[in-house]
Amino acid sequence: MSRNRRGLALLVTGALALAGCTADPAPRRESRSTPTPGATPSVTPGPAGVGDPYFPTAGNSGYDVERYTLKVRYDPASDELRGDATVRATAGADLPLFHLDLAGLTVRRVTVDGVPARHTREGTELVVTPAAPVRAGAAFTVQVGYDGRPEPLRNETIGEGGWLHTADGAVALGQPESASTWFPVNDHPSDKAAYDFEITVPKGLVAVANGVPGGQRPAAGGFTTWRWSEAAPMASYLSTVVIGKYRTSTGEHQGRPVFSAVASSLPRGAADDSIARTVAVADYLESVFGPYPFAAYGGVVVDEPRIRYALETQSRPVYSANFFRGGENTGVVAHELAHQWFGDSVSVARWADIWLNEGLATYAEWLWAEHEGRDTAQATFDQEYTTADDAVWRVPPAAPGAANLFSESVYQRGAMAVHALRVTVGDDAFFRLLKTWAAEKRNGNATTAEFVATAERVCGQQLDDLFAAWLYGTERPGPPTRR
Ligand code: TRP
Ligand code: ZN
Repeated sequence: MSRNRRGLALLVTGALALAGCTADPAPRRESRSTPTPGATPSVTPGPAGVGDPYFPTAGNSGYDVERYTLKVRYDPASDELRGDATVRATAGADLPLFHLDLAGLTVRRVTVDGVPARHTREGTELVVTPAAPVRAGAAFTVQVGYDGRPEPLRNETIGEGGWLHTADGAVALGQPESASTWFPVNDHPSDKAAYDFEITVPKGLVAVANGVPGGQRPAAGGFTTWRWSEAAPMASYLSTVVIGKYRTSTGEHQGRPVFSAVASSLPRGAADDSIARTVAVADYLESVFGPYPFAAYGGVVVDEPRIRYALETQSRPVYSANFFRGGENTGVVAHELAHQWFGDSVSVARWADIWLNEGLATYAEWLWAEHEGRDTAQATFDQEYTTADDAVWRVPPAAPGAANLFSESVYQRGAMAVHALRVTVGDDAFFRLLKTWAAEKRNGNATTAEFVATAERVCGQQLDDLFAAWLYGTERPGPPTRR
């Protein structure tokens, strides 16, 4: 990855380093067999998985969560977390038992609709047997009391995610999984839900989560409870909690609250200035993608050496301080904010579709650079197209394989695919497509096949050959031309 020119590629290197992957990512890519274009092996969902071919045990089947109410008390001095999670869901089938994902921690008590339920642990699954089966179609409420010292999760293939105890607090963050290290959850983006957070921390520390701030109130023992609420459906990996000593800034923009935080350990400067551009960048992206999808804005900069990436946590991305060591960096802000439309509002239905997130977010960086008077998107495309290494052409971005989820093919070739589409269909159709896609799939999940169908409909052209080459091919496509 020595030829990285933009921050985000560095970010991916960081994420993989965090994951404990090989220092040189190239051999890791080469070791993967080439996936069949467009094909995903089918996985039959059982209660312990939602059927994602890349992560068979991620999520659970049989129900759909509407809301998580998470009351968590955390004391950084002892690293002890005490949680009370209420999960409101609807059964999709009769449920004599059901699973939630929960990694580590000790479960003290489970009730279903107020009645104590039997519960056991199987690896990172919490298996709940209600006193009476939940009937198909019924809404039900699970309450889980738990405690312990949270530990980050080593994902089957791509690394660490979850609750990290930091010098003065904690950061809960990670993709494709992180949530199950601090609350019981249906941990897959196909089951999006609303979230209410009540995070109780020692007085003097800040506790930030997603969505609209609900203020603070004193709690027992010299603690303070911070409330946050994310009303729009959110994928579990987009949830975050950041606890520690932070400089906060608040405001309002377009009638929405703005709440940002920068680690107090960082000198005032580039990080603060870059995060302060959040609303300006969001307004620019709104002009390209359509209305900003959420009820709040913000960003959090953490100063934690094990976090070397940024993540598009909903309404409030989290950034490693590393992005701002060389001065102001709005490229990474543009990338994470673009994800608010593509990734967060329009979420993947399965992880194989990750290029829909990363290709579009990387393309947003190109557009933002052009808007700021730096390289045009065409110039960036030309540069990438002529210098991308073999692995980028060998790995198909729309079927990268689990180990290559965050590879350069997904990011850079994904963005090149977006630009190739633009060149092919022309600017009018292309920008209409971006807005249509964001609007039609808003607050939902989407697949590559749906993107292709929407593109063909909006642009009035058959585009399967273009997408076959750019998204599924295993060699460099010819340069795009206007049709
Ligand atoms: N999705 C993140 C982004 O593009 C980056 C990322 C890749 C990441 N892999 C990760 C973040 C693993 C956390 C964990 O902005
Ligand atoms: Zn991204």
